[in-house]
Amino acid sequence: MAGILARNEAKRRKEEAMRAINEHTITDAAIEQMASTSNPRMRQIMESLVRHLHSFAREIDLTPAEWLEGIRFLTAVGQKCTAHRQEFILLSDTLGLSALVNALHDKRASETVTKSSLLGPFYRQDAPMMSLGDSIISQSEGTEVVFYGRVIDSAGRGISDALIQVWEPDETGNYDLQKHDPSVMDLRGCFRTDSEGRYHFRGLCPLGYMIPMDGPVGDMIRAQKRHGYRPAHIHFVIGAPGYRELVTALYVGGDPHIDSDTVFGVDESLIIAVNKGDRSSPLPSLPSIRYDFRLATAKDQMSGRVGADPSQITHGVAENRA
Ligand SMILES: [Fe+2]
Repeated sequence: MAGILARNEAKRRKEEAMRAINEHTITDAAIEQMASTSNPRMRQIMESLVRHLHSFAREIDLTPAEWLEGIRFLTAVGQKCTAHRQEFILLSDTLGLSALVNALHDKRASETVTKSSLLGPFYRQDAPMMSLGDSIISQSEGTEVVFYGRVIDSAGRGISDALIQVWEPDETGNYDLQKHDPSVMDLRGCFRTDSEGRYHFRGLCPLGYMIPMDGPVGDMIRAQKRHGYRPAHIHFVIGAPGYRELVTALYVGGDPHIDSDTVFGVDESLIIAVNKGDRSSPLPSLPSIRYDFRLATAKDQMSGRVGADPSQITHGVAENRA
């Protein structure tokens, strides 16, 4: 009997609260209604999101017109996404959220290894498999360099047969995905390390570029009077069985935007130099960039990719709707 009375009292208080929604009670009311979420991690994420979102609105005293503008902006970001373009990744990158998620991912690694950097919106799956020493340049022109080094574990031992996926922009600062025929692949490839973990391949000397400015993220960057440039870099995704996949990039020291990357990808440890006359290079006649990538052992299966091939994201959205 006492239990029934207590439950009725709780129900009455809940109903009263639902009829007294104001700026102070709405957060708890929203969280309480979502408390039946069966996935505990999803429940935790949504509770925290609502709490912070509501605090944000209170802090800036958000007006209806301003929130409508926010909704317009997010709608435009979504509408700009296609199988070849991912404006939401660009938004995450330019807000510093991707760099933050990378830093949190690195913190969970079991050893000190090569730092993560941005996957960005221009990764694509199914880049051609190539042999060590091959060139990833198929359509572009520019200064050719050789990239070489080793993929090693935290003790410095070479990791054989590691898969290296690499991609970079062309001499105009565009990736193949941004061109007239985005189905054509250029300046990307996959390589396997040799028995001692060594790799080398040829590509363009990395160049800097301006992020895509013809969408809502570009409008935001202009409104904030930011320059929109990324320093010269080349992207890598490196994986091997038993090791955490590494998503990173190498940045050319001396680039004018090395200290003001629009997407916050640069770390001191990822800055490289272009060397001439390097006798250790497997192709000494070319300028060279040397870097050893250090992988952590896998203690979980968590992916370090903050992003994906744009076509995989639109495909996933369509599948979820079906
Ligand atoms: Fe990039």
